[in-house]
Amino acid sequence: MAELYRVESLCRRFGGAAAGVDALAGVDFQIAAGERLGIVGESGSGKTTLVRLLAALDRPTSGRVVFDGMDTSNAPESALRRFRARVQPVFQDPRSSLNPRMRVGDIVGEPLRSLRVAHTSGRVGEVLADVGLEPEAGKRYPHEFSGGQRQRIAIARALAPEPQVLIADEPVSALDVLVRGQIVQLLADLVATRRLTLIVVSHDLSVVRDLCERAMVLRQGKIVERGPVGQLLAGPRSEYARSLLAAIPELPE
Ligand SMILES: Nc1ncnc2c1ncn2[C@@H]1O[C@H](COP(=O)(O)OP(=O)(O)OP(=O)(O)O)[C@@H](O)[C@H]1O
Ligand SMILES: [Mg+2]
Repeated sequence: MAELYRVESLCRRFGGAAAGVDALAGVDFQIAAGERLGIVGESGSGKTTLVRLLAALDRPTSGRVVFDGMDTSNAPESALRRFRARVQPVFQDPRSSLNPRMRVGDIVGEPLRSLRVAHTSGRVGEVLADVGLEPEAGKRYPHEFSGGQRQRIAIARALAPEPQVLIADEPVSALDVLVRGQIVQLLADLVATRRLTLIVVSHDLSVVRDLCERAMVLRQGKIVERGPVGQLLAGPRSEYARSLLAAIPELPE
């Protein structure tokens, strides 16, 4: 498979050189086109920091994120605009990531407008249908929807520019268990039918098990374990990965 991402010696430090925090302390990995990669780790291990760098929403302190041959931290604005059409993020809490004063149709069409795509309204209706919402949903406001529906709206917005990569940071953590399963299923279906490359962060290994083929375990800004998901779940090598596994409520076969 063609290499899509190459991450080299990636470091991100917050705060000063003396008293700062190394949120990422030298991370190397690659992602092939069409791969589904899970990133797990305890709170504060650097997952969101890594996601923001992969989405070019932040810059590394050192090291690089190369996407399809382009170093994202010194790419020209025009190349970054094309990058943003190809790589779309989905965040944890749709309550805070959806503007409450905008109609859903405008929210979903926003990435298209910022990419200067014409004829957004037809496309908005299509992606709303793709995530299981009625076209009329576009006329309403985010607060009129349940948590699960709001996450569907956030996913529709991410899909609108027909990205190649979806990067989801804790996409179901804010939802109750039943709805969680529905959204995981929706993501699985969308990824399969659109042949998306998927990067999913979750502190819940069952989400990674259901969506990904490969996973990396982060601890204190470093990758401490990586491999096929089945292998990781069956036989975690480190005590740390074992303790993450023990935190899964149940692992039905
Ligand atoms: N903007 C920031 N300014 C200062 N420190 C930050 C910033 N963002 C992250 N950090 C620090 O970097 C470290 C990694 O944070 P990060 O948010 O990436 O962890 P995480 O794995 O996503 O955690 P969680 O599971 O709680 O979301 C933490 O110590 C955090 O306090
Ligand atoms: Mg986080």
